[in-house]
Amino acid sequence: MTMITATPDGAEALSLVGLSVRLGGVPVLRDVHLTVGATERVALIGASGSGKSLTAGAVLGVLPAGAELSGRVLVGGVDVTGVHPVRRPAAGRVATVGQDPAAALNPLVPVGAQLALPLRHRGLRGRELDRERAGLLASVGLTDARVLHSAPGELSGGQRQRVCIAMALASRAGLLVADEPTTALDLVTQAQVVTVLREGTRGSGLLFITHDLSVAAALCDRAVVLHHGAVVEDAPVARLLSAPQHEQTAALVAAARAGTLPVGAPA
Ligand SMILES: Nc1ncnc2c1ncn2[C@@H]1O[C@H](COP(=O)(O)OP(=O)(O)OP(=O)(O)O)[C@@H](O)[C@H]1O
Ligand SMILES: [Mg+2]
Repeated sequence: MTMITATPDGAEALSLVGLSVRLGGVPVLRDVHLTVGATERVALIGASGSGKSLTAGAVLGVLPAGAELSGRVLVGGVDVTGVHPVRRPAAGRVATVGQDPAAALNPLVPVGAQLALPLRHRGLRGRELDRERAGLLASVGLTDARVLHSAPGELSGGQRQRVCIAMALASRAGLLVADEPTTALDLVTQAQVVTVLREGTRGSGLLFITHDLSVAAALCDRAVVLHHGAVVEDAPVARLLSAPQHEQTAALVAAARAGTLPVGAPA
């Protein structure tokens, strides 16, 4: 693990440099170059099976066993290529929100106790922890104090996802990777979660994974298009929408236009 910049504070939140991954000898990511600036929101889009979740796995350090990886993964300027999350230095940690909030939360533990864990990890205790936790829940629109004592099963899917986002934000990582966090939600809740992600990541980088270009357009400035494990386009979202260069991007634009969410609609 080496620092590659003299001033990590000014480093990109994420930089993938020629990242290739093989699973069982089969290439699944091919020479991926991708950056997320320190306070940038970048969408990673592509059809099912294009390699989006494997890219997230490489960034988070949780690729399937036996994965062969080449190239480099830099988080906050720290080389974390192939380094498991628990062995990363603080600057190389990545927060994550997944598609299934029910699976991400412990069903038996009240939400307040789960949210306390990343805060304790940051050294917060007592009233300070209580204040920070209430502030985080408020920032994701959960202001009812009963939420703290609720088990995840007593909340709606959208509320659970907002708890997951609050937990991810609680770690204060410089990068948040969200893999299809809105896919399981209805359109109204989807829009709320997009707003929460936008507000919550003002001071950090966001890699937002989706197959839905309309959701990407509502949240991100730039999008990277994956196709068969390779980047085929990397451009501002507005340009992708108005003048897609690759046929795969054009197909995603057409799918977004045919969908129920207007393309580029503010959340
Ligand atoms: N554990 C694994 N072992 C072998 N191959 C895998 C494994 N996980 C993913 N793959 C393969 O790698 C490719 C990319 O998978 P990935 O999960 O990254 O796709 P994705 O873009 O996230 O798709 P989706 O939109 O459906 O979530 C697919 O062809 C998939 O079959
Ligand atoms: Mg996926």
